[in-house]
Amino acid sequence: MLVSAKEMLTKAKEGHYAVGQFNINNLEWTKAILLTAQELNSPVILGVSEGAGKYMAGYKTVVGMVNGMLEELNITVPVALHLDHGSYEGAKKCIEAGFSSVMFDGSHYPIEENIAKTKELVAICNEKGLSIEAEVGSIGGEEDGVIGAGECADPNECKMIADLGVTMLAAGIGNIHGKYPDNWAGLSFETLDAVQQKTGTMPLVLHGGTGIPEDMIKKAISLGVSKINVNTECQLAFADATRKYIEAGKDLEGKGFDPRKLLAPGFEAIKATVKEKMELFGSVNKA
Ligand code: 13P
Repeated sequence: MLVSAKEMLTKAKEGHYAVGQFNINNLEWTKAILLTAQELNSPVILGVSEGAGKYMAGYKTVVGMVNGMLEELNITVPVALHLDHGSYEGAKKCIEAGFSSVMFDGSHYPIEENIAKTKELVAICNEKGLSIEAEVGSIGGEEDGVIGAGECADPNECKMIADLGVTMLAAGIGNIHGKYPDNWAGLSFETLDAVQQKTGTMPLVLHGGTGIPEDMIKKAISLGVSKINVNTECQLAFADATRKYIEAGKDLEGKGFDPRKLLAPGFEAIKATVKEKMELFGSVNKA
C-alpha cells in the first residue's frame, strides 16, 4: 500500500539521512526502483512530473501500475507516489487519482499567491492523510520545458510557507535540474543553513540531485536535507546501457530485438544508479 512521505521523512530528518525521490517514466523505471528499494530495505519516493504522467497515459494509469507492482512484487518497504513540480490543478488531479503525496510548485507566483494556493492544498492533503511539498525559490535548469534560473530562497519566505503545515519544503539553494554546467558555483550552504534555522524540524528537499558531488550531498544532509530528487542520472544510465547494447549489435543476434532483452541492460543500469544513491543518501536498512 502506498504511504504518505511524512513518516519516512520525519525519521530521515531525525536520523540524519535522506530518502531518494526517483522519477519514473515507464514500467521499467518503476520496477527497477521498487525492486532496488526492497533489496536494500530502503524507503523510497516515486516522483512523477506532469509531463511524465501524461506520457504514461495519465495519473490513474500510474496509480494502477504502481499499486499492482507493490502487490505482485511483494514490496513491503514504505513507498510514496509523489507528484513532482505540480500545478494547482495537477495536484488536485493526482489527489483524486490516488497519489499518496503531491508537490505544489508555486515558486513562480508572487509569495502571497504561493501561500494562498499552498494553504488550500495543505488543507485537502491533511484531510486525506497525504504529504505535500511546497517550493520557495525556483530550481534552475530545464525540466519538462520549464526553464528556471536557479535562485536562492529567502529564508523568511521559507518560514512563511513551512508554517502553513506543509510536510516538506524545497528551497532553492543554487541547485538546478539536469547536468550542472562546468562553471556552476555549487550549493549555497549559507542559504541552506539559514533556511534550516528558520524552519527547524521541517524536512528540506534538494532537487536536481544529478551530478552534485558526494561531499556536497553529505553536507546538505547534515544541514537538514531529508529528501533528494534524482531524475536525469537514471535517464543517462539507461540511455548509455541501451546504446552499448545496440552498438554491440546485440539486437541483431537471435531474439535480441525482444524488448525484454533490449531494455534489460538499461533496467539494470537504473537499478545500479538507484543503489548507489541510496547508499550515498544513507537510507539503506531504514525501511
Ligand atoms: P535531476 O534531473 O537533475 O536529477 O533533478 C531531479 C529533480 O529535481 C526532480 O524534481
